[in-house]
Amino acid sequence: MSVDVEPRVKVEPIKPSIGAVVQIDKETFLSEEFPAKCAELLDKHTALLFPELGLTDAEQLAFTDRMGERINFTGTVPGGDVSAEDVYMITLKQDVNAEPEYVWGSMFWHGDGIVSDIAPPKYTMLSCNTPPEKGGQTEFANAFAAWEILPEEEKRELEGLRVVHNLEAGLRGLMDLENMNPAKTGMNHEHPLVWTHEDGRKSLLVGQHADTVVGMPRPQGRALLTRLQEWAGQPDFVIRHTWNKGDFAIWDNTGALHRALPYAEESKREMHRTTVAGYEEIS
Ligand SMILES: [Fe+2]
Repeated sequence: MSVDVEPRVKVEPIKPSIGAVVQIDKETFLSEEFPAKCAELLDKHTALLFPELGLTDAEQLAFTDRMGERINFTGTVPGGDVSAEDVYMITLKQDVNAEPEYVWGSMFWHGDGIVSDIAPPKYTMLSCNTPPEKGGQTEFANAFAAWEILPEEEKRELEGLRVVHNLEAGLRGLMDLENMNPAKTGMNHEHPLVWTHEDGRKSLLVGQHADTVVGMPRPQGRALLTRLQEWAGQPDFVIRHTWNKGDFAIWDNTGALHRALPYAEESKREMHRTTVAGYEEIS
């Protein structure tokens, strides 16, 4: 039976440039018709929040599969006890995550998979299994808006620049890089600073993983990247979500930056992440 999702979905925009809270019952959310509506809402709002939806891992995976091709670009957390493969657990709990530095890295603005060898994931989804006791909110920034509102003269100066992204840039200052997993280091990924998407829209590709600007002395490049990251994170383009148990979020990873606010090392915070493959190389 086909479901008319429109009357069952209530959308409340958060800011003009980014974010909407979506009120929906789980049955409608898991219907075959909702993913098309969800993709449409993501094109418009970039990041969507579903309060206390209460998905199981299996339900989250079923929805993930309906949004596109499921991938697990980081592999599985050693010792992770999620019930299904392809669900990545984000937590600092030491009995679960033996590589906490990657979770610390998520406390800085970033896009998922920008330093992977694959096209950046299209959508990232998070379910809140255990909310943080304090802190640990997630912020989302609209990288399209960050580009669009730049002065024209600055746009002309920035277009054409290329940036080297790597994991080391994201983790420098968080750990002794010599202790990094050698399988994950030493890989540089050069991308244009301004990502021109297939539909013609442009976004600013910055984040903690952006290391140097090609052809620019290191200090000038670092100063430029830091300033642009601050620009992209200005309040007009950013929403902040405080997690309750069962909350679900999905965002367009190709046009948004995200970060977690700091939380304690002994926090029980546990998020379950699933990912939909991207189909667009950065160009
Ligand atoms: Fe992330």
